Amino acid sequence: MKNITVIGTGYVGLVSGAGISDFGHQVSCVDIDESKIASLKKGEIPIYEQGLESLVKRNVDANRLTFSSDVSNAIKDADVVFIAVGTPQDDEGNADISAVLKVAETIGSSLNGYKVICTKSTVPIGTGRKVIEAINKTSGPSAQFDYVSNPEFLREGAAVRDFTHPDRVVIGADSQKAFDFMKDVYHPLYVNETPVLHTNIETAEMIKYACNAFLALKISYINEIANFCEEVGADVFNVAQGMGLDGRISPKFLHPGPGYGGSCFPKDTNALASQAEAAGVPLQTIRGAIDANGIQQNRMVQKLRRLMEGSFENKIIAVLGLSFKPQTDDIRESPAIPMIRSLLEEKASVKAFDPVSNDNMKSIFPNVEFLQDVNSAVADADAAVIMTDWNEFRGMDISRITSLMKTPIILDTRNILNTDELDSSGVIYDNVGRKKTNA
Ligand SMILES: NC(=O)c1ccc[n+]([C@@H]2O[C@H](COP(=O)([O-])OP(=O)(O)OC[C@H]3O[C@@H](n4cnc5c(N)ncnc54)[C@H](O)[C@@H]3O)[C@@H](O)[C@H]2O)c1
Repeated sequence: MKNITVIGTGYVGLVSGAGISDFGHQVSCVDIDESKIASLKKGEIPIYEQGLESLVKRNVDANRLTFSSDVSNAIKDADVVFIAVGTPQDDEGNADISAVLKVAETIGSSLNGYKVICTKSTVPIGTGRKVIEAINKTSGPSAQFDYVSNPEFLREGAAVRDFTHPDRVVIGADSQKAFDFMKDVYHPLYVNETPVLHTNIETAEMIKYACNAFLALKISYINEIANFCEEVGADVFNVAQGMGLDGRISPKFLHPGPGYGGSCFPKDTNALASQAEAAGVPLQTIRGAIDANGIQQNRMVQKLRRLMEGSFENKIIAVLGLSFKPQTDDIRESPAIPMIRSLLEEKASVKAFDPVSNDNMKSIFPNVEFLQDVNSAVADADAAVIMTDWNEFRGMDISRITSLMKTPIILDTRNILNTDELDSSGVIYDNVGRKKTNA
C-alpha cells in the first residue's frame, strides 16, 4: 500500500484519485479550488461521470480517500505525487503548462524524503525536464525524488471504466526504483495482465499526443469522406461499416459528425502541431485534420441554413444536446458552441436542451432559453438540430416531435435518426453523409 497525493481534482484527477484508492492505496485528492474540495467533502461530485459517485463513496467510507485544499501538507505525506492539473491551450495554440510548473515548485518546497513525482496531465514533449528543474529550484540540495510521466487515456463519459480497465498503462521513467513504485500503484492492473509499457519520459509524453492526434485525424478523415459521400450518392454509414470490418482499421472513431470537440482533441492537436513545427518537422496530416474540423463545424451551420432556405433571422431553433459527447456534462470546445453562436449572431432565438449540461452552457450563453426536455425544446421551433448523440434522442418519437414544431425541419449532425422514419413523417432533414430529404 502506498500513500498517494493527486493534485488537481478535475475529470482526470478525481477519477484517478478515486480509482487508485479503489486499488487499495491511501489517497488524498487536493485542489486549489476550495469550493470544489468543500463539495467533495460533503459527498457531492462536481462533475457528471457514470459510476464516479459510488466509486468515491465506497473509498471515502473505507477511509482510503480524502479531500483537502492544503496542497503542501498532502505532498509531505505522500510516497507518490500525481500532477493532474489542467493544461489549456494558450493564445498561440500551445499547451499552457504554467499550472503544472507552479505545482512543481510547490512540490519542491514540500519535499521531505524520497518521492516519485508523476505527471498525468497531458504536457508537451520535454515538459518532464522542466518539471524536474522547477522542483530542483525550490527544493533543498538533498531533495530526493524521481520523475515519471504517466499519461492518462481515459475518455470522459466512460472515465471510471477506462481508468480501472485501461488498454495499457504507459510509464515514462528513467529510474528503475520509480518504475517499481508505479508498478505497485497499478498492482491490480499488473495482476490482470494489463500491458504496462516502460519508456523514457519523452516517449511517454509523445505517446499521449500521438494517440489523441491520431483519433482526431480519424474523425476528420471520416467527416471528409462523409462530405464526399453526399455528392456522389454513397452512404457513409455503410462506408464506415465496410472500413471498420477491416481489422487493420477498426470501427472505432469512424462516426461522422459535426466535428470533434472536448477538452482534449482540439487543444492536443494544436499543441502537437505547434511543437512539431517548432522542432522543424511540420505534421501536415494533423494540420489537415485541424483545418478539416473547423470546416466541418461551419458546414453544419451551412446545412441548417440550406434546410431553412436562407436565413435564421427571427426563427426559433431547438438545439438538442450541448455536451461535446454523450454521458458527460463537459461542454469545453463542444461543436454546439459555434452552432449556437452562429444562430444568435444571425438573430435566431435558441431553445436548448441537454440531459446534464444545461447549467454549464448557461454560463456561456445566458440569453439562450434552456429547457428540461426534448418536447419543450422543440415546441414551436422552426427547426431542430441534434448536436450530441445522447441515447434519449435516438429514441425520439419523430411524429410527436414534428407535431410540436412550427415546421418539421431537423438537422441530425450525429446520424442517429432513422431516415425511413423521417421520410414517412414528412420531415425535411439533413445529416452527415447519408440520404437527405428528396435525395
Ligand atoms: N478530461 C479528459 O478527458 C482528459 C483525458 C486525459 C488527459 N487529460 C489531461 O489531464 C489534465 C487535466 O484535465 P482535466 O480535464 O481533469 O482538467 P480540469 O480542468 O477538469 O481539472 C483541473 C483541476 O486542476 C486544478 N488546479 C489548477 N491549478 C492547480 C494548482 N496549482 N494546485 C492544485 N490544483 C490545481 C483546478 O482547480 C481543476 O480542478 C489535462 O492536461 C488534460 O489534457 C484530460
